[in-house]
Amino acid sequence: MQIQSVRGFHDILEKEAKKFRKVSQTAREVLKLYNFEEIILPVVEYTELFQRSVGEATDIVQKEMFVFEDRKGRTLALRPEGTASTVRAFIQHKLYALRPYWKLFYEGPMFRYERPQAGRYRQFHQIGAEVFGVAEPHADAEIIKIAYDILEKLGIKNVVVEINSLGCKKDREAYRTALLEYLHGVKEELCSDCINRMERNPLRVLDCKVETCKAAVKESPKIVNFLCEECKEHYEKLKEYLKELNVPFRENYNLVRGLDYYTRTVFEAVSEELGLTLIAGGRYDYLVEELGGPPTPALGFALGVERLMLLLEDEEEGFRDAYFIIPFGDEKVYKYALKVAETLRKQGKVAELSYRKGGLKKQLELANKMKYKYAVIVGEDELKEGVVTIKNMETGEQRVEKI
Ligand code: HAM
Repeated sequence: MQIQSVRGFHDILEKEAKKFRKVSQTAREVLKLYNFEEIILPVVEYTELFQRSVGEATDIVQKEMFVFEDRKGRTLALRPEGTASTVRAFIQHKLYALRPYWKLFYEGPMFRYERPQAGRYRQFHQIGAEVFGVAEPHADAEIIKIAYDILEKLGIKNVVVEINSLGCKKDREAYRTALLEYLHGVKEELCSDCINRMERNPLRVLDCKVETCKAAVKESPKIVNFLCEECKEHYEKLKEYLKELNVPFRENYNLVRGLDYYTRTVFEAVSEELGLTLIAGGRYDYLVEELGGPPTPALGFALGVERLMLLLEDEEEGFRDAYFIIPFGDEKVYKYALKVAETLRKQGKVAELSYRKGGLKKQLELANKMKYKYAVIVGEDELKEGVVTIKNMETGEQRVEKI
């Protein structure tokens, strides 16, 4: 039987690969304008890192991680996300001792054992940005603005930016108690998953996509009413700054996110067309400390490359600005053709030597099929004169040139 790719793991071919690069380049351009620096992280980490950061009770850790043992019996995981690794690196290399704050970005594959469907894969790619050492809300606004800028630069429309505040530890504690009390009252209407996660992580019930659960939590207490003065002010300032930056947003008090490390600001940029979240993030002010570093406020976001790709138009299939060199003759002509290709490349032009033998007509058909704008005919006469014949495949125009 022919070997196929693993379910949920995809090849990204030509046109799609172009879209992939477009997303990547655009994100990098925007991040550069905000002065982010790249960090290249390993794909494998100790499983414990994700248990302690993303959270033991989350779906990601409970059901979605690719976990395996190495030859010495240590438990490793393919990373399901990039924030935990960035925090680990920040602490491991004592970056906090070198600068008052850091702005880092990463790009690469992430792995989650989810049910594959459009826009949801088991290997997908994220570009993420993390800021360490900044507590002020203008950083929250800027992080959201970066996400917004990337979408805008890519021409992606019909996106709603949703924001919420999850408060600090104390606020969450008080809210958790109130929410749990409420959930007990509507327990009959909740799905079995929600009943299971209720005690461990009641906030996740607010995020459930099952209709009956959605209806059941409509009247639930809202976290915004449990914020302390400082968290409230942080949230109010964030909204002010977003308005200042002309980022349209919508408050969603049920937005809680599927990872446990968040505090205060959380946000998601959701595509109305796909009904999927494109970019998501928020603040995680305790995580650095919880993983053994000094207290360091932090925040960030990650975008799903494949999800943005779904919203990009196919590029028009015109002729490529490239030269297809057709040697037409004996060995001497072939050698000349090799040099012609080299000369063109030295001039910064895309040049490809035909690897197919055959008559001129066939070769020109090939040039046409491969959408080369120029066919460069190199024969005995051209060799003698030290010239080439260039045919513009788009217009049919032909001229002899010295190159
Ligand atoms: P996340 O919401 O789990 O957050 O993922 C961020 C983005 O990755 C999603 O909005 C989506 O575009 C993409 N994504 C997630 N799962 C899949 C999948 N199975 N297939 C395709 N795309 C997917 C995080 O990962 C956080 N680390 C974000 C963050 C950074 N928060 C603070 N800093």
